[in-house]
Amino acid sequence: HIPSAPITPLNDPTTLFVGSGMQPLVPYLLGEPHPSGNRLVNSQKSFRAEDIDEVGDNRHTTFFEMLGNWSLGDYFKQEQLPWVFEFLTSEIGLDPNRLYTTVFKGDEKNNVPKDEESAALWVKLFAERGIEATVVEIGAEADGYVKGMQGGRIFYYNAKKNWWSRAGVPENMPVGEPGGPDSEVFYDFGTEHDPKWGAECHPNCDCGRFMESGNSVFMQYIKQEDGSFALLPKLNVDFGGGLERIAAASNDDSDVFRTDVFSEIIDLLSRDTGKSYDDESYKRSFRIVADHMRAATVMLGDGVRPANSDRGYILRRLIRRASQHAQKLGIASENADVSALVRAS
Ligand code: ALA
Repeated sequence: HIPSAPITPLNDPTTLFVGSGMQPLVPYLLGEPHPSGNRLVNSQKSFRAEDIDEVGDNRHTTFFEMLGNWSLGDYFKQEQLPWVFEFLTSEIGLDPNRLYTTVFKGDEKNNVPKDEESAALWVKLFAERGIEATVVEIGAEADGYVKGMQGGRIFYYNAKKNWWSRAGVPENMPVGEPGGPDSEVFYDFGTEHDPKWGAECHPNCDCGRFMESGNSVFMQYIKQEDGSFALLPKLNVDFGGGLERIAAASNDDSDVFRTDVFSEIIDLLSRDTGKSYDDESYKRSFRIVADHMRAATVMLGDGVRPANSDRGYILRRLIRRASQHAQKLGIASENADVSALVRAS
């Protein structure tokens, strides 16, 4: 069990903040021996600025805790997928009938094969729980995913959805970057599909019916000078699970802001503004204040200070945006217990 690295990357100039559990472990995924061994777990403080405009819906946050486990050339798919399934169903208590999984459909151009091994493992795991799981391929046409659910339980998607590297799809990866196919688990909240997000619903649809609760990356490739992919010296596993999203699934309530992580700050905001979180006209502001205060508090704790550039600018933007939305909620500064809000964050 290794501690979370600070939210400010130590030896990584590629991003301003740590955005995933694997980021501080890149040297070890590339082959350097880790002092704690080949099997690691942690809960990593993570911040993704690219999600800032999405905060306000039921599930996006800029800051989150990523639960991770890693195999550095030790266990691989045959162990990882059963453990993820066991963790989500037996430990967290999620109903396996509400879980759907995705796997990589392969990339001929980059010579990466279809992940039939993971699909077969999922079929077996669902069968062990008495669930007959059909494997389907999701339509990639113009990435519109036109085929929808098709009665499937296990879904093949292309690299846009089921390939993971810090830079995204294989084409965007710089030389020397590790990456690989991944397999995600989604929880079905059973809500109505909203056609605003596409004609048909499917696990990666953004309508809110499904929420990703964990991603196992089979980190086995490295991008070469000539653009091709070579195998890393060892086959690695990089798992990331969103603590807040897993908690939401365990509550069977798709609103992550109703989990214990946020309830204290939401209650305090409600007390200090006299507004109700259930009032739809204020919900977005409640969520933005709660998320941004939490992110800002963690940044301050790790030594970031408001400034005009880089990390300090992001922190400043979070604080400014939180205070704008606090004003929208009608917070009266003389009533607001600011230190209590910071503690709750
Ligand atoms: N590194 C993987 C992710 O961020 C687990 O989803």
